[in-house]
Amino acid sequence: MSEAELAQVSIYRLDPDTAKEPRYDLYQVPYKGNTVLGVLDYIYQNLDSSLSYREGCTHAWCGVCSLVVNGRPVLACRKSAEKEMVIEPHPKFRLIKDLVVDFNEKVKKPWKLPKATAQFILKAELCDACGDCVIICPTQACGMRKVNGEVKARHTDGRACMGVTCKLCADNCHTMAITIED
Ligand code: SF4
Ligand code: SF4
Ligand code: FES
Repeated sequence: MSEAELAQVSIYRLDPDTAKEPRYDLYQVPYKGNTVLGVLDYIYQNLDSSLSYREGCTHAWCGVCSLVVNGRPVLACRKSAEKEMVIEPHPKFRLIKDLVVDFNEKVKKPWKLPKATAQFILKAELCDACGDCVIICPTQACGMRKVNGEVKARHTDGRACMGVTCKLCADNCHTMAITIED
């Protein structure tokens, strides 16, 4: 396979039980027509089975594959692979190993925060406060608040939002109250 067909993939590696500082391992991987998750699968199956990452529904539904690619939070199973990629764990949650974080445990001081670019636009009159968007949001960027005495959905932590690469809240809102824009 020629160089042109291979992506240069740099991946954050850290096992907090055995090391204090992360390293970045470089891999050359076929990438055209593949997702970031597909690239991670290729690395695991062909190059390095010590790499830890999460894989779930593979259809942009469960959120467990959320991580950071080139500084931007994405769902690995939805994001198309690129020729040059730096892949890192989501910075808002406690690191377990490599790209695996504990979504139940937010960290107080993230090691790095991507720029907040996503906008959560709510048609408040359509929101019936069912809470589905809050439950399905993989990064806790979505929450509820009182507006004029009524509880409505909102962005509670826009910096954690994965934007248009995710849109799980918008896609799963039964009243179509949410629009996510970059
Ligand atoms: S899923 Fe839709 S209706 Fe339910 S709380 Fe979220 S915005 Fe409101
Ligand atoms: S797009 Fe919606 S579900 Fe996805 S991270 Fe942002 S607020 Fe959460
Ligand atoms: S594996 Fe479920 S959202 Fe990516």
